[in-house]
Amino acid sequence: SDKKMLGPLVASIDQGTSSTRFLVFNAKTAELVSHHQVEINQSFPKEGWVEEDPKEILQSVYECVEKTCSKLTKLNINISNIKAIGVTNQRETTLVWDKYTGEPLYNAIVWLDLRTQSTVENLINRTPKRDKNHLKPKTGLPISTYFSAVKLRWLLDNVAEVQQAVLSHRAMFGTVDSWLIWCLTGGRSGGVHCTDVSNASRTMLFNIHTMQWDPELCAYFDIPMDILPKVRSSSEIYGAMKSGSLTGVPISGCMGDQSAALFGQMCFQDGQAKNTYGTGCFLLRNTGAKAVMSDHGLLTTVAYQLGREQPACYALEGSVAIAGAVVRWLKDNLGIIQSTSEIEKLASAAGTSYGCYFVPAFSGLYAPYWEPSARGIICGLTQFTNRNHLAFAALEAVCFQTREILDAMNQDSGIPLTQLQVDGGMTSNRLLMQLQADILCIPVVRPSMPETTALGAAMAAGAAEGIRVWNLDPAHLANVTADTFHPQIKRDESELRYARWKKAVLKAMNWETS
Ligand code: G3P
Repeated sequence: SDKKMLGPLVASIDQGTSSTRFLVFNAKTAELVSHHQVEINQSFPKEGWVEEDPKEILQSVYECVEKTCSKLTKLNINISNIKAIGVTNQRETTLVWDKYTGEPLYNAIVWLDLRTQSTVENLINRTPKRDKNHLKPKTGLPISTYFSAVKLRWLLDNVAEVQQAVLSHRAMFGTVDSWLIWCLTGGRSGGVHCTDVSNASRTMLFNIHTMQWDPELCAYFDIPMDILPKVRSSSEIYGAMKSGSLTGVPISGCMGDQSAALFGQMCFQDGQAKNTYGTGCFLLRNTGAKAVMSDHGLLTTVAYQLGREQPACYALEGSVAIAGAVVRWLKDNLGIIQSTSEIEKLASAAGTSYGCYFVPAFSGLYAPYWEPSARGIICGLTQFTNRNHLAFAALEAVCFQTREILDAMNQDSGIPLTQLQVDGGMTSNRLLMQLQADILCIPVVRPSMPETTALGAAMAAGAAEGIRVWNLDPAHLANVTADTFHPQIKRDESELRYARWKKAVLKAMNWETS
C-alpha cells in the first residue's frame, strides 16, 4: 500500500503539565501520522504546593511510545521509519535524583508551585533597591516562585535525601527534559545528563548572553554547580533510546514547550509571535539574535539554538499561570462540569458572564504583574448568576489575561501585532477563540494542525539528523491552512469589559497582605 511508501518519520515526546504525548509526523509533509496521550496526576500536598511523580512522568512516556508504535504497526507502517525523536516539556519544573540508584529524591516541584513565596520575598527585600528585577540583566527574568532556582533551593534546604546526595556527589538536578533524556539514554548505566538552552534559560542560573551557567547566579542561590546538567543546543544528537520498541533511535531535539510551539508555528523571523493555551498561557514573540529587555513586565528568554555552531534566537514572553487550569478547577473542585470540553456548552448557553468577573490568580499573578501574593477572586455576583455565567467568566478570564500580555508586547516592541497566531488544547473551543478576537480587537488565527508544540520538537530533532521536516518555500507555507476568527463586537464594548476586568485584578492583588 502507499502507506508503506511513507518516507522518513520524525517523532516527539511532549511532556506537558497536564499530560504526556508521543506524536509521529511524516517528515516530508509534517502531517501527524499517529499519537498517544496519557493524563498526568498532580498532587497538592499543602495549600499552594503542586507536585508530580517523576516515575509516573517517565512511565507515561514509555507507555505513549509503545502504544503509538503498536498503532503504527496496525496501520502497516514500519516503525524503523522513525529517524529522530525530539523532547519538549513543561518548563521550570524541578527534579533532583540519585545518579547511582536512578531514584528521584523528591517529587517534581511543578512550575506553578508557590511554596517558595516567602523565600522570594526575602530575596527581593535583600536586593539593593528591593527590586524584583535585580537579576534581570543576566537572566531576563524577575525573581519569582516560577523559576527553578528557588525550587531547587527549597529542596536543598528541606529534603535530607537531597542534602546527603549533594554531599556524596550523587545528586543530579534537572528540569523535565533532563530527567527524561537521562533516563531514556540509559539512566544509571550511562544516561546523558543534559538540557538545552531554552530550558536552561528558565532556571535563573543561566546567563542568557554568555549562554552558560553563571557562577555568580549559582553563588547567589547557593547552588552547587556540579549537580547541573550540561547545556547543549536545541538541535543536536544527545544520545539514543536504550530500551523499548525504538531502541537505537537518536534523541536529537530538545526545547521547552513554548519554544517548540513558536518554532512549530514557523515563527522564525524577528517580530513573529504565537500564543499557546495549555495549563497556562504563553505569548512569545521572536526577537531574533537580540535579547530585548522588556519595560512592561515581560520575560526575555532564549527561544532556541538550532545546532552548536548556530546563533541563539531570543524571544519576549508574556506568561499567564492559569488558563486551561481554570477549566480543570471548575471540573475537579466545583464539579460544575464532568469533562473539560463541556465548558463550551455551558458558556454558550449563557452567552455572557452577566457582569461576573473571575480572576484565577491561584498561583499569584504572572505577567505583567509578577505578584505572588495575589489570590483568585470571583466578583460581580448577583442572585441571577449561575454556573453558565461562571463558565463564561472563566473563559473570558483567559482572554483578558491574553489581552494584558498582548498590550505589554505591543508597548515593548512599538509595532502592534495585527493578528494573533494561536495553538494548544483550548483552541478547539470555538467560543473561546471568538471571545479572544472580540477582546483583542484583532483577528485570531488557528492552524488546522493544532499540534504545533510537538511538531516544533520533531522538526528540531529531524534537523539534527539532516532531515528537513518543513519546507520554507513560501508557496508551501501559504498552503498551511488555518481558521480565522474576526472580532464581532464594537471596540467600545470590548474596552468597557476590559476596564472592568482591570478593576477585578486590582481586587485580587496583594490579597494576603491587604
Ligand atoms: O512554563 C510552563 C510551561 O512550559 C507549561 O506549559 O503547556 O504545560 O501549560 P503547559
